[in-house]
Amino acid sequence: MAKNSVNFSCSNCKYISIKWIGCCPACNEWNSFIEEQATQTYTIGAKKQTASMIHEAVVMRPLKDIQFSKQKRMLSGIAEWDNVLGNGIMPGSLIVLTGDPGIGKSTLLLHVAHKLASAYSVFYFSSEESLEQVKLRAMRIESVHDNLLFSDKASIESIIQTAHQQKPDIIIIDSIQNCFFSETQTFPGTVAQLRETSFALMRLSKEQGIAVIITCHITKEGHMAGPKTLEHMVDAVFYLQGEDRWHTRILRSVKNRFGPLHEIGFFSMTSHGLEEVSHINEYLLSESSTATGAVLVSSLEGSRPLLLEIQALVVLTKFSSAQRVVTGLDHKRIVLIAAILEKYLHIKFSAHDIFVKVSGGIKVSECSCDLAIALALLSSYFQQPLPEKTMALAEISLTGSIKPINGIETQLKEAQRFGIKNIFVAQGQKTDFVGVQRFSSVYQLLNLFNEISDQ
Ligand code: TYD
Ligand code: MG
Repeated sequence: MAKNSVNFSCSNCKYISIKWIGCCPACNEWNSFIEEQATQTYTIGAKKQTASMIHEAVVMRPLKDIQFSKQKRMLSGIAEWDNVLGNGIMPGSLIVLTGDPGIGKSTLLLHVAHKLASAYSVFYFSSEESLEQVKLRAMRIESVHDNLLFSDKASIESIIQTAHQQKPDIIIIDSIQNCFFSETQTFPGTVAQLRETSFALMRLSKEQGIAVIITCHITKEGHMAGPKTLEHMVDAVFYLQGEDRWHTRILRSVKNRFGPLHEIGFFSMTSHGLEEVSHINEYLLSESSTATGAVLVSSLEGSRPLLLEIQALVVLTKFSSAQRVVTGLDHKRIVLIAAILEKYLHIKFSAHDIFVKVSGGIKVSECSCDLAIALALLSSYFQQPLPEKTMALAEISLTGSIKPINGIETQLKEAQRFGIKNIFVAQGQKTDFVGVQRFSSVYQLLNLFNEISDQ
């Protein structure tokens, strides 16, 4: 056996050094080096043998020999949650729910755990808040099921031990950044700790068939590790998003080994917790108007077509350089569309402040909104409202031509369901829908406003 030697390793990132150093060269953490025994090497006689050589060779098997039983998904009955997860929670999966602090992760999980507890055994480990605080939240939302059991333990070993002994169906850990491993000397919230805890939980979920849901805050600059550290290690990652000024919360799947990607669910934060918003388009359209500068657009999020209103306000600037204030859309896209209209229609947008926003606090990144943005800007500039419930779906190229977009049938079907009749698309747009108005270049948009003013 080789002589034992001593190494120093960084408790944050596991960087190894043969001598103690004050600041880790890999992650710049101070005072993070701890002493540990160097990995032993095995010797037979005078010859060294590596660890891989003393392990047994594995038996390879074809897939037809593997027994497969279709596992039943665990449905909570909260449709917006179940759909985003891919029709319920997959038993034995490791799921991350992430989002900004205070967005509503704990509230959502309490709702879900309460519903699931009527059919499954659910353990809720609140490593971040005391049980009194959890009870306070539970009292705000609704009565919590008696089968739902709580603990404020933050030690991963204790959590795993409890799971091994009592074998619940689902474990919720809120949050992973506050859990710790007593065996190793990593600090809670560090990259090394997050990796180690999620690896242990992955093994627990796979070996015991327990679904494990962990919450993880999105971290700004600082020493805490964030959800990106976990993304490649877990089965599914869901983001809970929303704007402070709006009550709408969007649950979005960014990774799902057992379900669809980019699927979204809608909730509304109320004084008694998160409520599902299943008829989102009714909710969004109820706020739409026929005012100048307002145009409808449809954006496909996952499998759901959303009907959104783009609102623009164009006013003469009082500053030396004109302002562009944009919410819910890409700032550069607005600058680009304004530049295209200025170039081809000779409208001096550069002397005007432009304010653009999307209704409902929702963010849209698709170029299918180009035509709607252009119409909203022109409508506000000319002080002429478009006909009631006008929707536009097309891209605008740098040459000022209006381009078709891929597959708009789902959006058009949804628009028709809500009685939207004035639908503007590109000249070459392939669609089975009759009655759409077609445009080939931005010059035609001027004619449209002339026609409206003549009416
Ligand atoms: P929380 O679930 O604690 O957020 P997270 O776990 O993501 O940090 O939610 C905290 C916010 O939600 C807080 O600002 C208060 C608000 N809230 C309500 O508006 N209504 C409610 O019924 C509850 C429980 C919370
Ligand atoms: Mg929380």
